[in-house]
Amino acid sequence: MKKELLLVEEMASFENYLIEAVKKYAHTSEELLEAMTYSLSTGGKRFRPLLLLAAVKLGKGSMIDAFPVAAALEWIHTYSLIHDDLPAMDNDDYRRGKLTTHKAFSEATAILAGDALLTAAFNIILDQEDIPANKRVQLAKSLGEASGANGMVAGQMADIQGESASLTFDDVVAIHKKKTGALIEFAVLAGSLIADMSVNASVSLHKYAEHLGLAYQIHNDLKDVVLTEDESGKQANRDQELGKNTYPSLLGLEGAIQKLDDEIAEAEKQIELIRQSDDTKLNLALLDVFIELLEFVKLDQGV
Ligand code: IPE
Ligand code: IPE
Ligand code: MG
Ligand code: MG
Repeated sequence: MKKELLLVEEMASFENYLIEAVKKYAHTSEELLEAMTYSLSTGGKRFRPLLLLAAVKLGKGSMIDAFPVAAALEWIHTYSLIHDDLPAMDNDDYRRGKLTTHKAFSEATAILAGDALLTAAFNIILDQEDIPANKRVQLAKSLGEASGANGMVAGQMADIQGESASLTFDDVVAIHKKKTGALIEFAVLAGSLIADMSVNASVSLHKYAEHLGLAYQIHNDLKDVVLTEDESGKQANRDQELGKNTYPSLLGLEGAIQKLDDEIAEAEKQIELIRQSDDTKLNLALLDVFIELLEFVKLDQGV
């Protein structure tokens, strides 16, 4: 990612906040806190928090309110990856070039570290007394929808059930929308809520996130096929081994790259719509961050 456009200062403070804030919610078991901190510290790209913070900045909202919600989102994402890597799911030994949590600790500790991150995510939102209570409820409810059995967890279930089955292209789109899209959509939804954005801006931002969410998972699936283990920090060609239905498995490499480009183009249109809106409530210069995030999901970027 190009650094200059991507809220470098905010993200540096956020990095610190993300790791420190978890201590408040896990101070009774050293092993659990260690596993949670390990999983949070192995070098995630922080794509979802960045998107949330960018949305808040776009709407000139409060960064103090944004940090805990962005942390909640990254904690849920981290829990989803800890559980995704377990032997009962994708059975991966490495992620981001480091041992997966169940390999570095134990399966039981990894399951519990995931559970603890999931639970803490709701606590940290509800604890924010500076955010009006009705907004806290809306944020927690939306996060529950996005991450639970109507969102990410449903996508993970369908992904597992689809292993070695022959799914249609629409089935795969539906899986991607839930397992990956839902949390990415939550990032902009939370951002627009925290910043009290206009309906028009939030709708466009949400459509942007829908396309970005799909693009993000297509990019992830393409990386599985084209990158070596050294480049990606995880075992290569894992999706094929597990019989996963992905864009590359259904459409081939070229077809998947074309779909990725299409999603990026659609997402970009939404940003241009916002740019043309002259919405004075927004800091329109921030729209370049949203374009930069699209650059990141192009196949030759960020890998
Ligand atoms: C990986 O997400 C899993 C998906 C849902 C695509 P990221 O690529 O955002 O993972 P990290 O946190 O940066 O490692
Ligand atoms: C992970 O999806 C998605 C979630 C954890 C919600 P994948 O299984 O496709 O991602 P990687 O390849 O392990 O990062
Ligand atoms: Mg998986
Ligand atoms: Mg996986």
